[in-house]
Amino acid sequence: MFIDNHGRPINYLRLAVTDRCNLRCFYCMPEEGIDWLSRSELLTYEEMLRICSILVKAGIEKIRITGGEPFVRKDIMQFLDSLSKLKGLNQITITTNGVLTAPLVPELKRLGIRSINLSLDTLDRNRFFSITHRDELPRVMDTLEQLLANGLDIKINAVVMQGKNLEDIIPLVELTRQLPLSVRFIEEMPFNGGASHYAALEWDHVRILQAIRENFPDIQKIPDPLFSTSYNYHIPGHQGNIGIIAAYTRSFCGTCNRIRITPQGALKTCLYDDGVMNIKDLMREGLDDDQLFNALLDAIGKRAKDGYEAEQKRIRQKPAHESMATIGG
Ligand code: GTP
Ligand code: 5AD
Ligand code: SF4
Repeated sequence: MFIDNHGRPINYLRLAVTDRCNLRCFYCMPEEGIDWLSRSELLTYEEMLRICSILVKAGIEKIRITGGEPFVRKDIMQFLDSLSKLKGLNQITITTNGVLTAPLVPELKRLGIRSINLSLDTLDRNRFFSITHRDELPRVMDTLEQLLANGLDIKINAVVMQGKNLEDIIPLVELTRQLPLSVRFIEEMPFNGGASHYAALEWDHVRILQAIRENFPDIQKIPDPLFSTSYNYHIPGHQGNIGIIAAYTRSFCGTCNRIRITPQGALKTCLYDDGVMNIKDLMREGLDDDQLFNALLDAIGKRAKDGYEAEQKRIRQKPAHESMATIGG
């Protein structure tokens, strides 16, 4: 198993399969003028499977597929099918915006995928349009319905943004009353590809909790699963749970068990670093599996202790502001 230089086990890979997306969430990317990666810059599915296979042999048990939006990449279902056959991989999960996902849910279930994180910042169609620049709320809600009907574990991700969706905090919490899902409120991070100026975090995890507690005074802390990114809560009588992700405050780095691979093959050992090596380049130079494994081991042995140190060590832009779609979250 991979253990990093701070004694943290690494058993979770976040694999971003594309930088493209069918929404334009302003906290993630600009509406226009985006330089998409060309096909040759992207990892091929064969390359991704090869890396995943090396990583799974080295102790990676969970792979989360992210993007951009994973389902806009052609032949993604065939890739998931191949991935689901990797021996030793316990869990495949996906983070999706839900626009194209509804008709695929039964097939995802058949592939053994049990849990999906759905990005949904508002339940109001006009606000959805103002945040994402696309009128796609109905299709996202169809996905939610399908996920529930097929009994998958669902986490709804809502980024909390001053002036954009504060009215949605309570309606999103209300979803947990009747539905067996988690709603997780996320601190906004600066990864917006320059879409807007990120001056300071206005809604941190403490303020988000306060806003919820004002309406639900009996909200209770519940134990956080091992390696959880969210602080978790339950409101008595509700079916589902609430989570708050201190993504910008970075207070959960001490238990961080994850590495990331970006669509162009960069290995990130922290969300806030700017890539510590490029696995695609190494593969295309002809390294064999043992050499790739050793390169990964070396990178994991030099991890920053937290997101602040990783950001400090960045060589390219500082502070970080690349689009989340090029990282995978
Ligand atoms: P689980 O695998 O279900 O625990 O989900 P997750 O929270 O790891 O992943 P998801 O893709 O749903 O991301 C939710 C939010 O957490 C996004 O805003 C991510 O960018 C953020 N996030 C995920 N991992 C990290 C991390 O290691 N550090 C920070 N700071 N934020 C993270
Ligand atoms: N800050 C916080 N979360 C973000 N996401 C995308 N961009 C940002 C940002 N700037 C979230 C999406 C998705 C997850 C992968 O990352 O809402 O659910
Ligand atoms: Fe697309 Fe997700 Fe970025 Fe929104 S946050 S633009 S859904 S990749």
